[in-house]
Amino acid sequence: MSMEGAAWGSLMQISRAKAGDGKISRETLKRIVRFAAPYRTRLLGFVLLSVVGAFLAVATPVLAGQVVNSIVAGTTPDVVIRLALLIAAVAVADAAVSLATRWFSSRIGESVILDLRTAVFDHVQKMPIAFFTRTRTGALVSRLNNDVIGAQQAFSGTLSGVVSNVVALVLTLIVMLGTSWQVTVLAMLLLPVFLLPARRMGGRLAALRREAANHNASMGTQMTERFSAPGATLVKLFGRPDAESHEFALRASRVRDIGVKMAMMQAVFVTALTLVSALALALVYGLGGYLALGGSLNTGDVVTLALLLTRLYAPLTSLANARVEIMSAVVSFERVFEILDLRPLIREKESPAPVPAGPLSVEFDNVRFAYPTADKVSLASLEEVAVLDTRGGEEVLHGVSFRVEPGQTVALVGTSGAGKSTIAQLLARLYDVDSGAVRFSGTDVRDISFAGIRQALGMVTQDGHLFHETIRANLLLANPEAGDEEVWDALRRARLEDMVRSLPDGLETMVGERGYRLSGGERQRMTIARLLLAQPRIVILDEATAALDSTSEAAVQAALGEALQGRTAVVIAHRLSTIRNADRILVIEGGRIAEQGTHSQLLERGGRYAELYNTQFAAEPAAEAAE
Ligand SMILES: Nc1ncnc2c1ncn2[C@@H]1O[C@H](COP(=O)(O)OP(=O)(O)OP(=O)(O)O)[C@@H](O)[C@H]1O
Ligand SMILES: [Mg+2]
Repeated sequence: MSMEGAAWGSLMQISRAKAGDGKISRETLKRIVRFAAPYRTRLLGFVLLSVVGAFLAVATPVLAGQVVNSIVAGTTPDVVIRLALLIAAVAVADAAVSLATRWFSSRIGESVILDLRTAVFDHVQKMPIAFFTRTRTGALVSRLNNDVIGAQQAFSGTLSGVVSNVVALVLTLIVMLGTSWQVTVLAMLLLPVFLLPARRMGGRLAALRREAANHNASMGTQMTERFSAPGATLVKLFGRPDAESHEFALRASRVRDIGVKMAMMQAVFVTALTLVSALALALVYGLGGYLALGGSLNTGDVVTLALLLTRLYAPLTSLANARVEIMSAVVSFERVFEILDLRPLIREKESPAPVPAGPLSVEFDNVRFAYPTADKVSLASLEEVAVLDTRGGEEVLHGVSFRVEPGQTVALVGTSGAGKSTIAQLLARLYDVDSGAVRFSGTDVRDISFAGIRQALGMVTQDGHLFHETIRANLLLANPEAGDEEVWDALRRARLEDMVRSLPDGLETMVGERGYRLSGGERQRMTIARLLLAQPRIVILDEATAALDSTSEAAVQAALGEALQGRTAVVIAHRLSTIRNADRILVIEGGRIAEQGTHSQLLERGGRYAELYNTQFAAEPAAEAAE
């Protein structure tokens, strides 16, 4: 390695460091060791190869010195040739060993990344909906990317750096001291002059790097939020594009400024390190040459010392900063562990009960419920707030009881914020009740496996989300085994067949981000088709409030009719047609059931329902026709 190459190498190591608080908990260390444990054979192989590599690296300067000594001593040519061949052999072996070392360290590092990533992904999947309603997606994704990579560097960067540097340094020093202690000591004198400012600069560089990462992250968040279909629509309708551009440019130019500053600091560092070792080299030549002339040192030894010196400074600088670097890797691990330690609020029972066979009834038994507070489900760092919001936890449902007989449809109506969607989410066990119980045919949902609930219950939510995939992939989510026949059947019953057949790519059409390439009504029918494909025994519909034109309305209505047929259904209804078709209507008011009965019973009573009916539906043409 050239002197400058070595300088860049050690710069990479020191600037990767982030500052830690200087304390590593034993607990964290134990967990890190546990993560590395499966790779101990490879780790051992790596350490052994590093030692071999260090020996090979020291061998060349020593052999070169011997060549010079042989020349000076005037030996036969075959000795010199043998030495040269040996140097060549060492070079080849060194190349092989360094490739193998790299293979081990990257293999270990990447495997640890894989383990950590999959562990975090699996764990986050288990988190309750409450977690996702609070977390900022960008923060979570960065945890999965940056911190996991930071943790990986602990293995492939820090660990390999420290091990190989220590071995190389010890060997080099031993050989140098053995060759000439006076020259070695003198050469080392310059080191502190360089090392002290270098350490401070390492800290500055790390701070800059962190700042740049923050600016990069906020640029990323702005882009992902604004460049999604709904976000871009919002900006076009209400946003201030100039202000957005300005804000973006501001962040981007900060990143540029930091980039320039970092490049300059790095250049200064590399130049300084190269300069200091070049000065040390001058000392070696000066003192070594003087001693050689006096006869107390061989000519070849001067060459050996000079060559070894170039290998001394870079590892020393790296090691001086190793502590900071290790700290930063540990901090990354801690941030990943923090997520793994979040206990999912909603857990499956050890030995869950099967879902009762046949048509299912649904029962709410005196259910009380408050949305969980932030400290139960979230991390401040993921919400991108300094402290967690401890408000909330106010009861939303105050003792709700009702029963839906198998095959019946119950409609929930009520003003906005009354608690209708909350009831739907409790039915699907997206949250757990605080007291009382939700039961399917007498079995508490908390006793049923997650897979059992998924298989028994299907839900169409208010916003009808689709993934950015093909129509087929979106539909098969509910039933991966379904064949084309069934998919087309579901589309037909959802009144979507003609539309999909008219598309050039048919089932392979990409629906666009969140399904934005479909109309509102089509998107809704797509989610209904997904439900039909899943064939759940319990159906929950959270009707979209958005008014549809009369053709879409009729199509959605027909699709809904298909979806509800013969199933136990809870429908949050905003359309009069859905309400009329229900077997029973529950009027939800402030988290309680205010009234219940059929449409005509409730109208006759002249209570809350009659009031709602008169204000919300009296204007609808369907209502007029019915009167
Ligand atoms: N994730 C949440 N965390 C905390 N409070 C919530 C959450 N979701 C809803 N709430 C609150 O719970 C109450 C009931 O909300 P819910 O969504 O059940 O109303 P809704 O009847 O479905 O209204 P809409 O007809 O507008 O959809 C509201 O006061 C709402 O602010
Ligand atoms: Mg709602």
